[in-house]
Amino acid sequence: MANADAAKKAAGIRAVDFIENGMKVGLGTGSTAYWAIMEIGNRVRQGLQISAIATSVQSEELAREQQIPLLTFTAFDYLDIDIDGADEVDENLQLTKGGGGALLREKIIASASRKLIVVADEHKFVPHLGAFPLPVEVTPFGWEYTFRQLTAMSGRPKLRQKDGKTFITDNGNYIADCNFGIIKNPKSLETLLNAIPGVVENGLFVDRTNILVLGFEDGTTKIL
Ligand code: A5P
Repeated sequence: MANADAAKKAAGIRAVDFIENGMKVGLGTGSTAYWAIMEIGNRVRQGLQISAIATSVQSEELAREQQIPLLTFTAFDYLDIDIDGADEVDENLQLTKGGGGALLREKIIASASRKLIVVADEHKFVPHLGAFPLPVEVTPFGWEYTFRQLTAMSGRPKLRQKDGKTFITDNGNYIADCNFGIIKNPKSLETLLNAIPGVVENGLFVDRTNILVLGFEDGTTKIL
């Protein structure tokens, strides 16, 4: 296993210690959240009683394979805890997310959760957000116009591609990967982006993180 994977695995597994019997749990998306879902599956098979809702089709399929009982939005008012990854985490625990394209469901689930536990390998922890392109989910209808608005904000949007085709999110939308340089004020950028008609959501997660579980290449973790 590459060392970065060891760091992700350590963080994902450690975060599951925050889950208690009876909790309603949000399941994140990505290669770090993967390890949390696998560990939740292990503990469910050992008797842990929880129910969960996933932030992507991919994570939902993994949860089913792991025999984790799944919830729908009609079955709860709030979730107790959400465990999810990040592409960048700054010193104030503000996040960039959406590298895997799941940002909209991730933000809905984070918003519905009393506690957001972020799991990340040590390389994701940065002084300022902005080196990682900021994903912005946009409607296919009028996307060219929406991209012009993002360009006018100096966002330098690029239409995400996958396997030679336009990437489509689980919600049927496109992703604009933007480059705003160093993001000095994530809160205001998050608000400004979501005010553009055609923008469905963006990958800035501001003032949402309660706990950061950082994983290191030697397999240790640190809680912040
Ligand atoms: C999914 O869209 C993302 O928000 C992921 O949570 C984020 O990209 C982290 O993914 P990794 O754990 O694979 O780096």
